[in-house]
Amino acid sequence: MTNAKEKDSSSCLPPNIYLRSLKHYTKMYRRSLEEPEAFWAEQAQKLDWFKIWDRVLEWQPPYAKWFVGGKLNVSTQCADRHAKTWRKSKVAIYWEGENGETSVLSYSTLSRDVNRFASVLKKLGIGKGDKVAFYLPMIPELPVFMLACGRIGAVHTVIFSGFSPQAIADRVNDIQAKLIVTADGGYRRGKIVKLKEITNEAVKLCPCVKKVIVIKRTGEVIPWIDGRDIWLSSLLDDAESFVEPEPMEATHPLYILYTSGTTGKPKGVIHSTGGYLVHSHSTYQWVFNIREESVFWCTADVGWVTGHSSIVYGPLSHGASIVIYEGAADYPTIDRWWDIVEKYGVTILYTSPTALRMFMRSGEEWLAKHNLSSLELLGSVGEPINPETWQWYYKNIGRKMCPIVDTWWQTETGGIMISPAPGIEQLPLKPGSATLPLPGIDAAVVDVNGKELPPCQTGYLVIKRPWPGMLLGIYGNPKRYQEAYWSRFPGVYYTGDFAMRDNDGYFWLLGRADEVLKVAGHRLGTAEIEGAVISHDAVAEVAATSQPDAIKGQAIVLFVTLKKENSPSEALRKDIIRHMRQTIGPVATPNEIYFVQSLPKTRSGKIMRRVLKAVASGQSTGDITTLDNETSIAEAKYAYQSLKKTKSGLGRELDQH
Ligand code: WTA
Repeated sequence: MTNAKEKDSSSCLPPNIYLRSLKHYTKMYRRSLEEPEAFWAEQAQKLDWFKIWDRVLEWQPPYAKWFVGGKLNVSTQCADRHAKTWRKSKVAIYWEGENGETSVLSYSTLSRDVNRFASVLKKLGIGKGDKVAFYLPMIPELPVFMLACGRIGAVHTVIFSGFSPQAIADRVNDIQAKLIVTADGGYRRGKIVKLKEITNEAVKLCPCVKKVIVIKRTGEVIPWIDGRDIWLSSLLDDAESFVEPEPMEATHPLYILYTSGTTGKPKGVIHSTGGYLVHSHSTYQWVFNIREESVFWCTADVGWVTGHSSIVYGPLSHGASIVIYEGAADYPTIDRWWDIVEKYGVTILYTSPTALRMFMRSGEEWLAKHNLSSLELLGSVGEPINPETWQWYYKNIGRKMCPIVDTWWQTETGGIMISPAPGIEQLPLKPGSATLPLPGIDAAVVDVNGKELPPCQTGYLVIKRPWPGMLLGIYGNPKRYQEAYWSRFPGVYYTGDFAMRDNDGYFWLLGRADEVLKVAGHRLGTAEIEGAVISHDAVAEVAATSQPDAIKGQAIVLFVTLKKENSPSEALRKDIIRHMRQTIGPVATPNEIYFVQSLPKTRSGKIMRRVLKAVASGQSTGDITTLDNETSIAEAKYAYQSLKKTKSGLGRELDQH
């Protein structure tokens, strides 16, 4: 397997960084593995606890419990404790709406609002252990509500605002949420996304939902159901200004976040209160070297794990000032982000390679219009950053003065795992490598048999021991938890990623090794995509795979066979795309659909996706000796080539929310 990262593994030292012996990092890393419990206990002491833990770790594979017996509350960590110090007047959140509206929340306002929102939840009968779902745009009320849930011990699920009614209903029903919080709408590229209408459609499928809180964002007229729907503003009228924080067991779930895996159904990843917070708090400092005067902007949506740990829990637990932007990167013009960086004096920018590749394409003249000199540190997350994009980021956004932290982690890991850590020591960087594991993270690259590989060989990335941010499990599905992460290589956590370690021990993350796609940094399972396509009336069989995409990294392509009475047409192609957007959401828009008579299968009837992936990428199909129907490949190739000739692709929108 080849990858851009493998080609360029030469050491690259930005001019402001010179090689050091990495004394500090090496010492800290070694100690973290030699005395893991003492090490993590020291990190945990940086937080405020109602009660100190009895045991740092209870490890009964595959379940890890951290800080057992300890009690704490995330809302006091992230809001109250700052509001009691000089930080009360420090900015917690600079919010920029897409339509130009702005608001600024100080830590005292944040703390006050968290209390009031917690009071609202309590008055609606929500208490410890209850599940609350959020389907919201990127507005400050979202982090406030997340912390309000934590205050009373309710467990939140944030549902990305680009998801469809069916996707919302699947998640809400799985956790049996009693309450959904949504908004009348949100702004996306100048248009209004009708979130309340979508929520109404979803709630029709969710008998568990008793109440819907609605936040006014757009002021549009919206469909309303008396008795069920309530405006947040009316609830706040008689909210208490103080709610006693619930002393939460460290091992109690804080949130459940759904993510795609290798089966059709997204999995509800459960994160704990104590271990998760210790992990996100510690790694946030190590990786971003946060200082009081830092202005931190993570451009992810709160609906993904990056938003949870790098917009809400990591930064706010440190009392950092963050920027939240509601809308599209290219609205009204492609320099909107650079305008925001300049306006708020952003010092740390954390974003995705997909966004960077989009900016690369639009040219540097847009950057020249802005003063980006406030930037000190740049970050990348969600997908491999190819060396060319890394260099562009370094040169054009960082003016060759900002180190780049390429951070590898997953929804399941809760926090960053492999990354440069300028907060500990500035490592020499190599474009395209996430460098070394953070302290406490025992990462390795193994072969198919689980044997650790020598340097420069590609294998599977595993984590050999538990870490505090490790998921507690998959909601309602212990079997799937065991199978997805702990069965492939017994005793160690399987990440599902390919990786390679070079001679310096640096990790190169090479993409997914399983049936999970990363499209524009968003995680989607091929089984989930196929499930959506097959529910279209005209479709008999489908195989979903990916092809490389210059901007999105990977793009979805479908090979489809039709039921007898149907024949391929442009109209049908468009209708399948419409259907997928409706079933999963715009993130699932395929780049191409190839209509074929049959799909290549093994003699036992398994679709050979590997072969289709090669066809869709214009590569050699490799060994096909196990194939049952060879003509299907010739057909798939023909479909690929003719479509390539006639069109440049459907639904090729970069930002598809
Ligand atoms: C990929 C996102 C290369 C990887 C935080 C992982 C990366 C999946 C990187 C998790 C990186 C994330 N370099 N690949 N720096 N960061 N990935 O759950 O394939 O949305 O398994 O979490 O993203 O995606 P998830």
